[in-house]
This record gives sequence, structure tokens and C-alpha cells, in this order.
Amino acid sequence: MAKSVFITGAAAGIGRVTALKFAAQGYTVGAYDIDEAGLTSLHEEITALGATAVTGHLDVTDNDEMIARLDEFVAAAGGRLDVLINNAGILVAGAFEEIPISVQHKMIDINCRGVVNGLHAAHPHLRRTPGSVVVNLASASAIYGQAELAVYSASKFFVRAMTEALDVEWGPQDIRVISMWPLYVQTAMTDGVSIGTTKSLGINLTADDVANDIMSAIEPSLLRRRLHQVHFPVGRQATLFAAGSRFSPAWLTRLLNKRLAGTD
Ligand SMILES: NC(=O)c1ccc[n+]([C@@H]2O[C@H](COP(=O)([O-])OP(=O)(O)OC[C@H]3O[C@@H](n4cnc5c(N)ncnc54)[C@H](O)[C@@H]3O)[C@@H](O)[C@H]2O)c1
Repeated sequence: MAKSVFITGAAAGIGRVTALKFAAQGYTVGAYDIDEAGLTSLHEEITALGATAVTGHLDVTDNDEMIARLDEFVAAAGGRLDVLINNAGILVAGAFEEIPISVQHKMIDINCRGVVNGLHAAHPHLRRTPGSVVVNLASASAIYGQAELAVYSASKFFVRAMTEALDVEWGPQDIRVISMWPLYVQTAMTDGVSIGTTKSLGINLTADDVANDIMSAIEPSLLRRRLHQVHFPVGRQATLFAAGSRFSPAWLTRLLNKRLAGTD
């Protein structure tokens, strides 16, 4: 039986490119999203690669739908769930007080509650599958709280904490839990976003960069396996910031973040 991967928010951007990479490696791909037109074309592309695609509507904030889609997919994949990718997310940038509270709540619902729903519903399937892996899409904004991205950044700290906690909790059950930390990626999410840090740092990564790193993170090198790497910065900038934040004093990290946000 082929290995299987379940990806949320798979119709576009990072999720879509990742789905195609898994398909190219012969995985049975479960691709779910609220964008059903995007899923139809993705289904065709996966099938053209000779892999099996299972696609369907899933709003990650709806826990009943999450349970139903996961159960259906795992049944179609012969009872196994090798990889779960909690990828669906939204970003709304700007001054905190100017973003309507309903929009702030929606970011929390999709980026945090959606991830909790995915983890909770997938657990029985992951537990039954030897060597299963969960990949959570966090972000470089989980390194230090980001101006003009306060709630988005906080939601990625939430994902970071969920990853660390469950990696420890589920390790004895043979489930690895990891997170990806890209800086800005050229997808619909960042289209038209112009804030201090997009101006100072640029939007340099592609969805392909992130998908490639996901593929290597799920099959880590011997060194990474020994070191038990949990978080995977994507690209040179995020790697530098993640390493720097471990060693620089808090005042210096804050100063750097102020400079990059252009608020001083
Ligand atoms: N683009 C970036 O700069 C960047 C950087 C770091 C991390 N990330 C993270 O990577 C992930 C993917 O981002 P992307 O850049 O590919 O974004 P994207 O906007 O290109 O794609 C996101 C996908 O999620 C889907 N989605 C939105 N709400 C949903 C919901 N409620 N239920 C199910 N699907 C839903 C959308 O329809 C879309 O297909 C997100 O978690 C994001 O926070 C992105």
C-alpha cells in the first residue's frame, strides 16, 4: 500500500506545490480546501502524475468536517496516515487597531483552531501508522512578535507551542511533530502586502522552496535525526534570524525587530 499524506489548504500556494511533490513520490494524496475549483485542477494534475488523489471540501474550522474528511481519506488510503500537513492559514496585515475584530478572530480560528482540529482528528490514524509525521506550517514570525502582523504572528507562536508540546507527548507513540518556519513566500497570501518588514526583508521565497524543505524534513538526515530537530527555518534569512534569536540578548532582538519593521 502506498504511503499517504493529508494536506489542508491544498488548492493553492505552498499546500498545492507540496501535494504535487508527494504525488511525484508515489504517495496517495488527500488534498482539502474551501476552494473546490482549485482542487479540481489539482486532482487532474496529481492523476496525470500517476498518483492517487482524494480531494474534497474542508473548512478547517469545522471540527465535524475535519473528522469526516480524515476518516474518509484514511479509509481510501488503506487505513494509513503517514503524513499530516496542517497548512491552511490566512494572513491579514496592518495596524492592529485598524484590522476589524471579526477579521482578527477569523485568523485565530483558521490558524489556531484549525490546527487543533487537524491534530485531534488525525491522532488515532497517526498512532496506528508506524513512523508517522505531522508537519505544521508555522512561520519565521514565530521567532519574535511581528509589528503589523500581531495576531498572525501570535497564531504562529501558537503553532510553534503545539508542535513542541505534541512532539514530546507523541514521541513515545512513534509520531514525529515538526514545524516549518519560512519567512515571506511569493503566494496569494503575500500578494499586495506592503508593510515595514516586507519592504526591509523582501518577499524572496517560493512555494517550491518551502515544499522542498518539507520533503527533506519528513525524511531527515542522520544528523538532524540525532539532534531531533523540531523546527525547520526555510531559507537563509529565517535560518539566520532563528539562530540569532537564540544567542542575542532580548534588547538587541527587540531593536533589530524595530529596525526591520521601520518603527524607529
Ligand atoms: N506566504 C507566506 O509568506 C508564508 C510564510 C510563512 C508561513 N506561511 C504559512 O504557510 C501556509 C500556506 O500559506 P500560502 O502562502 O500557501 O497561502 P495561500 O493563501 O497561497 O494558500 C492558502 C490556502 O488555504 C486555503 N484556506 C483558507 N482558509 C481555509 C479554511 N478555513 N479551511 C481550509 N482551507 C483554507 C485557501 O483557500 C488557500 O488555498 C499558511 O499556514 C501560512 O501561514 C506562509
